[in-house]
Amino acid sequence: MNQEENNALTEALENTLSTVQDDFVRESLMSDSFLDFVEQNTKPIDQMFAYYRCAILEVETKFNVLDESLSVQLERNPIESIKSRVKSVESLLRKMRRKNVPLNLSAIEENIHDIAGVRVICSFPDDIYELADAFLAQDDITLIKRKDYIKDPKPSGYRSLHLIVEIPIFLKDGKRNMKVEVQFRTIAMDFWASLEHKLHYKHDLPPERAKVLADELRNCAEQIELLDMRMQAVRNEIVTYNEENPKDASFPGFPMFDE
Ligand code: GTP
Ligand code: MG
Repeated sequence: MNQEENNALTEALENTLSTVQDDFVRESLMSDSFLDFVEQNTKPIDQMFAYYRCAILEVETKFNVLDESLSVQLERNPIESIKSRVKSVESLLRKMRRKNVPLNLSAIEENIHDIAGVRVICSFPDDIYELADAFLAQDDITLIKRKDYIKDPKPSGYRSLHLIVEIPIFLKDGKRNMKVEVQFRTIAMDFWASLEHKLHYKHDLPPERAKVLADELRNCAEQIELLDMRMQAVRNEIVTYNEENPKDASFPGFPMFDE
């Protein structure tokens, strides 16, 4: 076979293969029975994600209410910001593979506790415990697991308070308990965790440099802990002073307020 014949044959083969591929996609992946299968199986998954989004709404509302009500007593808002997310399908599948979770929805709900995640960012460490206690004291919240990485930081230096809770969502045909992971951090802990996350997942550094940066971050975590404590001490002194030296708020000659 000369070169020309060889090229012609290759081209013919490629065309045939691409037609076969095309036919395969049309006949199998685009067949009515496969599309029905996709529809039947994606509906329950979409439904499950919708339930987790509802659970996030419920948890966010509880924290917004706590923030409003505590703001009167504290004369400031204990919550700096709230960030929520539902786990991506890709990350869910990776975790199921890693933890060997069976491929059905009840096994997923039973074994994966962070499909719904709410992060509550506070200014001061004390606020974290006050908010967590007030949240857990509510009678529709069930604590599943509590991990205090503020008292016992991870080897990386990571600090946050983690709660896995169950919260009911109310649907057309009854209520359903959903698991939500709530992470509490100060602004400083959150700043640290975002940078440390980049070191874990988004770099191509040589291993020796990655180790140097991990050590540096561990050191930063210790400094952040001290900084959080110093800032809290400054705030506490201002609060105590104001409590011991209240401003005279009476309006002499304002009969409307004297009964
Ligand atoms: P996952 O399987 O990753 O969810 O861990 P786990 O089930 O052992 O729970 P853990 O409480 O240890 O961590 C849950 C989440 O906390 C993670 O998904 C991160 O958001 C955060 N986290 C935990 N450890 C670290 C850390 O060392 N650095 C950073 N940046 N985040 C962390
Ligand atoms: Mg997680």
